[in-house]
Amino acid sequence: MRILITGGTGLIGRRLCVALTALGHDLTVLSRQPMSVKEKCGPAVTALASLTDWTSEQSFDAIINLAGEPIVDARWTEKRKRKLLASRIGLTEQLVAKIAQARYKPAVMLSGSAVGYYGDSGERELDETASAGQDFSAELCAAWEAAASQIISNGTRLCLLRTGLVLDAEGGILHKMLLPFKLALGARLGDGRQWMSWIHIDDYVAVVLMLLLREDASGVYNMTAPQPVNNAEFTQRLAAALHRPALFVAPAWALRLAMGEMALLLLGGQRVYPRSLLALGYTFRYPTLALALNSLLKH
Ligand SMILES: NC(=O)c1ccc[n+]([C@@H]2O[C@H](COP(=O)([O-])OP(=O)(O)OC[C@H]3O[C@@H](n4cnc5c(N)ncnc54)[C@H](OP(=O)(O)O)[C@@H]3O)[C@@H](O)[C@H]2O)c1
Repeated sequence: MRILITGGTGLIGRRLCVALTALGHDLTVLSRQPMSVKEKCGPAVTALASLTDWTSEQSFDAIINLAGEPIVDARWTEKRKRKLLASRIGLTEQLVAKIAQARYKPAVMLSGSAVGYYGDSGERELDETASAGQDFSAELCAAWEAAASQIISNGTRLCLLRTGLVLDAEGGILHKMLLPFKLALGARLGDGRQWMSWIHIDDYVAVVLMLLLREDASGVYNMTAPQPVNNAEFTQRLAAALHRPALFVAPAWALRLAMGEMALLLLGGQRVYPRSLLALGYTFRYPTLALALNSLLKH
């Protein structure tokens, strides 16, 4: 397949590039730093600096749309929120408009979203039919999904990837947690009751490969393992996997003071189930957190 990936230089994108290249797919990555694409994504990957460089003669069989300003890098000021929205919704709208003009339309688009779609949902069990939340993350995800959904009018099959915390030892949330936990400074966040829905990077990649090929797959997919855990359990399991104690508690008030509205990402949570993936027959390689952490931390 000829595949265009936005956000292909990111944590998830780079893993996808390795797997898709190994399977013989022909990849193009849209990047603001096109010179870095071969180094980050592999020598066989073509860089696209801008959507305006995509000529109407050039065709892609599939699009994987993941680009977006990092959610946790800076406090959510109004300016920052506009950037988070524009980098996802603006780019997705441009992508959809470009596809509408393209002579050959892609057969499928997989487009990013996050479990933040559901807002802070307490103990409620959430499958793909649950409604959107009210906070900024929910607004961002709902708008991103709505922008991507416009592609359906071109006859392109769309899968929306409502993604939980992607666990990878070399980047993302797990990588950020490793140093404090290794120093025995790992801490439960607030009361630790907030749910954390997570997925091992290898399962994420395997699901993407499946969704690209399965013509019967469309709509929303919760990209999460079938056994979410609360923050207290996550803390204990990570500490145990590293053979360290986790004796501390990061008080909710201190997190709110340090992070402002963004603290909701740590103090709120979603208890999400991948009902649609299980209905497609996907078997998780890492269904439990213990299995995932053991595989990721064994080196
Ligand atoms: N990792 C997770 O746990 C997780 C969970 C839920 C949802 N997601 C979502 O899934 C997507 C991929 O995740 P990731 O962890 O791989 O993200 P990442 O490592 O932060 O990479 C995102 C990519 O998006 C591009 N990008 C960043 N800012 C941009 C901007 N202002 N305009 C256009 N492009 C921009 C960058 O590519 P260039 O620099 O090459 O342009 C970057 O490589 C993200 O949208 C993320 O929000 C991730």
